[in-house]
Amino acid sequence: MSEYEHQPVLLNETLHYLNIKPAGIYIDATVGGAGHAYRIAERLNERGLLIGIDQDQAAIKAAQQRLASVKPAVKLLRSNFEALPQIAADLKIKAADGILFDLGVSSHQLDELERGFSYKHEAPLDMRMDRSRPFSAAHLVNTASVEELTRIIGAYGEERWAKRIAIFIDRHRRDGEIKTTLELAEIIKEAIPAAARRSGPHPARRTFQALRIAVNNELEVLETALEAAISLLGGGGRIVVISFHSLEDRIVKNAFAKWAKGCQCPKEMPDCRCDHRPKLKVLTKKPIVPSADEIKLNSRARSSKLRSAEKLV
Ligand SMILES: C[S@@+](CC[C@H](N)C(=O)[O-])C[C@H]1O[C@@H](n2cnc3c(N)ncnc32)[C@H](O)[C@@H]1O
Repeated sequence: MSEYEHQPVLLNETLHYLNIKPAGIYIDATVGGAGHAYRIAERLNERGLLIGIDQDQAAIKAAQQRLASVKPAVKLLRSNFEALPQIAADLKIKAADGILFDLGVSSHQLDELERGFSYKHEAPLDMRMDRSRPFSAAHLVNTASVEELTRIIGAYGEERWAKRIAIFIDRHRRDGEIKTTLELAEIIKEAIPAAARRSGPHPARRTFQALRIAVNNELEVLETALEAAISLLGGGGRIVVISFHSLEDRIVKNAFAKWAKGCQCPKEMPDCRCDHRPKLKVLTKKPIVPSADEIKLNSRARSSKLRSAEKLV
């Protein structure tokens, strides 16, 4: 495997649901090291087009190398997928045949220790996927109010000790800025009572996940981008979203449900007057999850959930 090591999650399931047309236009909105994208490209011919988007410059560089020899035309763009409508307009694309989102961070980003995603290694508290963004995790941890930190850690980390962690962070930052990953991990450990620390994952895992989601504004951009992606699909086009967090999965489920809804008249109305027709068919009533074998081979797959839908003509 290349230096940009990332095992694509739910790969066969992704390819199955994308149902690739060889001359189609496909967008990988989170191209990363092109693990999924390469396998999509393999199924496209010379008339096909693959567009890869990633907000991380290092990912775009890795994807360029991986996709150097494929048959279809490839366009790689360093951008937030929030800009999908603008990207499609710039490339004069009116309708896509398939769009993939494989959310979250890549193994490569986690392994690049100096980027501060890992609570196990000493590094500046950064956590920005796009390093041109103005605010890092250090900024958030040192400036957000206790209430805001409690909300972020509680909601995005699903951490029951959120308030205690926020109070401990506040206490520590009064003595000087919290600058590094291990400094923060120690504070979190201190905040969680010993009995609770003995079971479950590393005590800092949930808080680090929460801060990463907040720093990169991950949930808000997902909502906007899903709307844009579904709008951009042509009739019969497929969307596949792989998420790693229950809040992300809920956003995907709700976005699909909204587009798949038919009549929107109030329940009391005996007949439909709105004439609203479903624009999307949900292909996965329940999310697809990885097999035990995949989880054994790739622990990052553990919390993944795949949902897919097809745009109606
Ligand atoms: C899980 S990795 C994708 C891995 C890829 N599917 C592969 O197989 O190599 C997620 C990637 O999405 C990128 N990313 C996350 N949120 C993004 C956003 N809002 N806009 C653009 N890229 C984003 C990250 O930088 C990361 O490289």
